[in-house]
Formats: sequence, C-alpha cells, structure tokens
Amino acid sequence: MKWSTLLFALVMATFPWDTRLAYAAPGLLIANTRGDNAIVQYTLPFADGDVPTTLLGSDAVEGPDHLLVEGDYLYISHGDSPETSAIARMNVADGTLEADFATGGALHRPYGFDFYNGTLYVASFKSDQILMYAQETGDYVGVFAETNGTEEGLCNGPNQIYISDDDGLLYMTTQGSNFNGTELNFLFNSQIVVYDLETGDGSVFLPPPMPLPGGAGFVSLLGVTVGCGTASAPAAGEACTMYTTDFAGGLRVYAMDPDGPTLLYAVETSYQAGVSTGSLSFDTAESQLYVPVWLNETSGAVVLRFAADDGASAGLLETDDSAIYIETDDGSTDLSRPIGVLFLPEAVDFSTEVPAASPGGSSAATACGSVALGCTAMMTWFAFVTVAVSSGF
Ligand SMILES: *[C@@H]1O[C@H](CO)[C@@H](O)[C@H](O)[C@H]1NC(C)=O
Ligand SMILES: *[C@@H]1O[C@H](CO)[C@@H](O)[C@H](O)[C@H]1NC(C)=O
Ligand SMILES: *[C@@H]1O[C@H](CO)[C@@H](O)[C@H](O)[C@H]1NC(C)=O
Ligand SMILES: *[C@@H]1O[C@H](CO)[C@@H](O)[C@H](O)[C@H]1NC(C)=O
Repeated sequence: MKWSTLLFALVMATFPWDTRLAYAAPGLLIANTRGDNAIVQYTLPFADGDVPTTLLGSDAVEGPDHLLVEGDYLYISHGDSPETSAIARMNVADGTLEADFATGGALHRPYGFDFYNGTLYVASFKSDQILMYAQETGDYVGVFAETNGTEEGLCNGPNQIYISDDDGLLYMTTQGSNFNGTELNFLFNSQIVVYDLETGDGSVFLPPPMPLPGGAGFVSLLGVTVGCGTASAPAAGEACTMYTTDFAGGLRVYAMDPDGPTLLYAVETSYQAGVSTGSLSFDTAESQLYVPVWLNETSGAVVLRFAADDGASAGLLETDDSAIYIETDDGSTDLSRPIGVLFLPEAVDFSTEVPAASPGGSSAATACGSVALGCTAMMTWFAFVTVAVSSGF
C-alpha cells in the first residue's frame, strides 16, 4: 500500500476528532437577560430530559438580549448600565469573544440590532436612541435617531430591529417608554416604526394593536422579523410577511402590503396565566417560528414552536413537536427571563464547546480549556503523521 493511501485512510478514520468539536446542527441559542447561564444552546431535535449547554456564562456577557449571526461572528447585545453596555461578538470559527466589540455614544441597555451597508444599527433602550457603529471595527459612528419625548418622536423605548437589505428599511418595535435616568415612564403606546436608512425619515409602520385575549391586558411589541416569498419558499423581492411577538402574550403576523400591514393571524403565547413572551427566531427551512415564554425567573421556560404559515401549534409544557420545556432544577441550566432566541441553521459551529461535556461544565470564558481538547487531538494527529511519514510509509 502506498503511504499516501494509508494516510488518506487514517485521515478518514480520525475525522471524528473534527465532528466532536462541532455541535450537531441545527440548534437553538437562548439568551437569558438575567441569571447565571447567560446564553445556552440546545441541539435539535430535543429529547425528553435534554438540558442545554452553557455557551457563555454571566462572567462573559451581562444579561444578553438579542443574538444574530452575521458573517464569521455571533453578535450579542448585553449590559444593563452605561459602563457595561456593549455589543459583543464571538468568532464562530475559533470561539474568541470580544465582549466590548461595539461601545460608545450614550449606549445604555442595548436590545435589538442589525446590519446595513457596513453599519451596525443598535436600539439603545435606556437612552431611547438608535446608535450606529462601524461593522468592521465596532467604532462608534453617531446617533441615527432618538426620542424627543413625544409620540411623534417615534424612538420611545426602542426594542428589536429588523433591517430589510433590499430597500434599506429599518423596522423597530418600541415599548412606548422613555427612560429619564432613574425610571422607565410608560408615556406612549407600543408600536412598530420604520426608518428609511437612506433618507433618515421615520414613520409609524404598525399602529398600536389591541391586546390579545389570554395576554396580560396590554401590548408591548418585542421580537420582529420579516420573511419574503412564502414561509415555505422564501424569495427576496416577493411579497413580505412580518412576524412580531408581544411581551404581554402573543404572536401577530402581518402581510406587508404596499399601503400598510394587514393582519394575517394572531395567536396567544400564554400557556398559563401571567407568563411573559420573549423574542422570536425564524427557521425558514422548516417554516417554523421559535418563541421563548416564561412564568417567572425561577419557573423554567418553554420554547414554543409555531408553523409560520398559519400559527398552528399545540405547544404546552411537554417535550413534543411543538414545544420544548427547558428545565431549571439542574443548577447549570436555569433560564431567567429568556428573551433572546436564535435558531441556528446547520453551518454554525462553535468550536469552543465540546458537546459531549457535562452540561454547564464549561463556558467560552474558559475557551482555551475546551479548545485544548481539540488541540491535543490535532497535535496527536500531527505527531502521528510525522512519525508515520518519517518512518517511511
Ligand atoms: C418631535 O419630533 C417629531 C417628528 O420629527 C416632530 O413632528 C415634533 O414636532 C417634535 N416635537 C418636539 C416637541 O420637538
Ligand atoms: C423620572 O421619573 C420618575 C417617575 O415618573 C420621577 O419620579 C423622577 O423625578 C424622574 N426623574 C427625573 C430626573 O426626571
Ligand atoms: C453605504 O456606504 C457607503 C460607503 O461608506 C456610503 O458612501 C453610502 O452613503 C452608504 N449608503 C447608505 C445608504 O448608508
Ligand atoms: C414561580 O412560578 C412557580 C410555578 O412554576 C411558583 O411555584 C413560584 O411561587 C413562582 N415564584 C414567584 C416568585 O412568583
């Protein structure tokens, strides 16, 4: 046998080293805006009794909110004071975390963000602004929009952001609040506003809707995303649909008609009285929406799953096709206020984590420790090849 043939066989035989580092995909990331296990990851599909793996602990990011993978990075909004507020980014390939990638301006409690034309647009919830940062460097660019303390000022309690790349329109949910330095005052209604990033002009896209039955009796629009084409056959440039969750309980879905949004359906997200609803993430391949819901900060959480076409669901507190119950009794997996959610398609591989490790055993803050396993395997492999080649195969 030629040594190159043997080498090839050995490469194939040792390939599991590589897959051992990668998470099986698809998966789901959940961001806890409170609690110790800041960002946890589930591998799909879930099995009864599965517990999530901690991707980042509270020692790495503070109260994370929105999650987004763009290019080579997972971006995370986090921090609840002017000093700690930042957009973090984690290199998906090697797990390197830059906790303070984008900071500056009056950034205070960043929530939603998205990218357009090389710029990162961030909803700074407690300064009632949309701030801009350079996508490449994280450098502060300036204020894009801010409240002027009136309903017409639009930027009142800015929450989640979705930017349509096709037309440069930024859609944003607002809570209707203003923060005055010490208190959140709920002066206005929750609505969805839209800004033209080319002109800077803003207007109301979705006026305040009525509270949904089964909810908390008010409206606080939170997650927002848009899909174009049909849910099962997405296509840019075709008719688009907006999906938005309500902290007070609900998922509303609108056709984005040229003369304004038209409600297609609304469903309750309250599996029991008094629950709160987080953001949402869209799995376009399966045409499903993931929505985290929780009762209180010690009760555990449920991730509901809805068919994007019609909102069909049977999701309750069970591990079945429609809902995922995330347990809290294991100290390593407590979910507290899980607002952020990100469905991960197959391509994402967080190389810092070894999925076989005991749940909660490591976080990216100890990335070197986790990566070392892979490094050891690789060095062993290289050593073996070196020996094999030098011994004349
Ligand atoms: C606030 O901004 C809106 C929109 O630009 C404007 O119509 C309104 O006059 C402003 N109000 C004040 C008090 O500045
Ligand atoms: C902020 O709002 C609270 C509640 O409305 C009020 O008591 C407080 O005086 C305000 N603080 C400032 C600095 O305006
Ligand atoms: C897009 O970026 C280019 C280069 O920075 C800039 O010249 C252009 O004005 C930007 N367009 C918008 C809509 O921001
Ligand atoms: C949280 O919810 C659980 C039920 O899951 C309940 O037993 C507990 O009393 C609640 N805690 C608080 C602080 O409301």
